[in-house]
Amino acid sequence: MKRIAVFTSGGDAPGMNAHIRAVERVGEKRGLEVIGIIGGYSGMIAGHFEVLDRIRTANIIDRGGTVLKTSRCEEFLYPQGREAAARELKAHGIDGVIACGGDGTFRGAHALCLEHHIPIVGTPGTIDNDLSGTDYTIGYDTAVNTATEAIDKIRDTADSHGRLFFIEVMGRHAGFIAMDVGIASGAEFIAVPETITDVEVLYQRVLAQGLDKRTIVIVGEGDELGGATMLSNLINERYGLEARVAILGHIQRGGSPTVRDRVLGSRLGAAAVDALLEGHTDVMVGDMAGAITHVSLEQTWTFRKPVPPVIVELSSLLV
Ligand code: F6P
Repeated sequence: MKRIAVFTSGGDAPGMNAHIRAVERVGEKRGLEVIGIIGGYSGMIAGHFEVLDRIRTANIIDRGGTVLKTSRCEEFLYPQGREAAARELKAHGIDGVIACGGDGTFRGAHALCLEHHIPIVGTPGTIDNDLSGTDYTIGYDTAVNTATEAIDKIRDTADSHGRLFFIEVMGRHAGFIAMDVGIASGAEFIAVPETITDVEVLYQRVLAQGLDKRTIVIVGEGDELGGATMLSNLINERYGLEARVAILGHIQRGGSPTVRDRVLGSRLGAAAVDALLEGHTDVMVGDMAGAITHVSLEQTWTFRKPVPPVIVELSSLLV
């Protein structure tokens, strides 16, 4: 293996730059040439490749987003798109690829591996933390800290007015962000897709807190009843309660990465280079209980990683 490529794909996540930097530096130490693919799978198909070196990857460790850019690429869902991408990889003499992203990225990588026999190692890069085979994903820690900081500010105004707030956080199919920020911000109720949200129980919580008091309800965007607006409307229609809604949105994806995300991104970058050199392919490198793991890409999305039951229990003990 002489030349490897790295790219970021799907939703960007803080820590991706630390990851790119680590891939370049460790690759160089191992005698490899490292290529960056610009713009995720779209860039792969279009042949947007650039040589990475120490200068290109200097001064990026503290930056949010991804210097390699990213995309959600419709074309890659089809065999023709993947064929075009494989052609470009081969034309550029790429011997192995490191794909940093979430389940959509890994589905694409898995198909590319199967159809075109290109060695690919995935690394978990998503704020959602919803990939099986790793305790944490790159970007999650920064996202929960950003969300908590924002909620602390909302709490000030909620407290001053004695208002009920529904605050929506990201997590398309998983409640990791909602659970952790709910606990960290002392929320009165947390609605996540993993548990059934009972509106009557929610109403009783609001009553117990006191209708003239601040009440914070954290809603994971993937909750089965819908997002914060939906829950607020439901509680208004059924019980006549007035509430304010705040959707934190993409603010959660930006910002300078925390130490944890910089270290995780770096660690998994180094592990991914070594995994390729050791002949691993169609796997994701992760970190479980402090040890580097290799799990098949398919496993990362077929096994649903549960929100730790102790965390769910803790959240109900604290309200
Ligand atoms: O990257 C994951 C994620 O942030 C989800 O939490 C969210 O549902 C989705 O991406 C939003 O994606 P987009 O930025 O493409 O709208």
